[in-house]
Amino acid sequence: MTSNSTAELDRLLSQALADISAAKDSSAVEQLRVGLLGRQGAVTGQLKLIGAQPPEERKTFGSAVNRVRDQLTEALSERASAVLVAEREAAIKAEQIDVTLPGRAGHSGSLHPVTKTLRRIEQIFTRAGFDIAHGPEIEDDFHNFEALNIPKNHPARAMHDTFYVSDETVLRTHTSPVQIRYLEKHTPPVAVIAPGRVYRCDSDVTHTPMFHQVEGLVVDSDVSFADLKGALVFFLEEFFEQDLPVRFRPSFFPFTEPSAEVDMGCVFCAGEGCRICGHTGWIEVLGCGMVHTEVFRQVGIDNETYTGYAFGLGIERLAMLRYGVDDLRLFFENEVSFLRQFS
Ligand code: PHE
Repeated sequence: MTSNSTAELDRLLSQALADISAAKDSSAVEQLRVGLLGRQGAVTGQLKLIGAQPPEERKTFGSAVNRVRDQLTEALSERASAVLVAEREAAIKAEQIDVTLPGRAGHSGSLHPVTKTLRRIEQIFTRAGFDIAHGPEIEDDFHNFEALNIPKNHPARAMHDTFYVSDETVLRTHTSPVQIRYLEKHTPPVAVIAPGRVYRCDSDVTHTPMFHQVEGLVVDSDVSFADLKGALVFFLEEFFEQDLPVRFRPSFFPFTEPSAEVDMGCVFCAGEGCRICGHTGWIEVLGCGMVHTEVFRQVGIDNETYTGYAFGLGIERLAMLRYGVDDLRLFFENEVSFLRQFS
């Protein structure tokens, strides 16, 4: 055996052993195995040289190459199982769940301020003995106007900025049609509120095309304007739980006579006058009055026997005053940062 080939084998062996112990993962080990023992591998190359040795050296060289091959085979398999163990441990560690970490808190939602206000209004009136009724949002001309003493071409129709669905069908412009629907089905005495959405073709800081009203209707044998005033003052005191000034202002509605509008002192400027109250110091929150005899006639109620009062209040207006919200449109933008303040 030439010293040349021995030196070559020694170099191959020590380099290969160093490479094997430096192999970081199974694919690196596999790559080395192919490079050493594979068909084109360095050790395989040496094995092929055995036959080329002079006959007297063939045996020694052959057994030297075989030793190298066996040694490397063993080193590779040891390294392969070592990195496999490390890889399994790393995989297990990566999958581990730290059960001691604090959990992520779920977000709890909250009621919309309009819903909260409506529930509050319903609670106050149901405690006072009122029933709750509902009517359709797509309403016919008869219930929205005609039966409420607003005939076709009546100037009061202009006040309503109506969305027409067809000639005879509208998006209700107020909750007053529910008065008619309720009286068509019930005989006095009645005391009812009717909350819901109403629609008007109008949009600015204090008007949105859709908003909410609560209608109130009380009919009995001797209902007076004093009862109306008493009920509304009671309601407003319960609702605001604080002393906001209230005023009744003579007004006009075709379906009530006499009629009044109720204003609350503006909470934004304490009555000084600002953009929200139109520089009057007052914010209108409801319309009311004694049920007009024509309305009773339309639903067949004897107006010698019965009198009644009705009112319609704006839910958003009340919510603005109670929560100090200075732009009506905020209620409809669904801005989470705004809504969260009511949770
Ligand atoms: N329907 C009237 C409006 O929307 C309010 C109202 C209701 C007035 C009942 C008087 C009686 O403006």
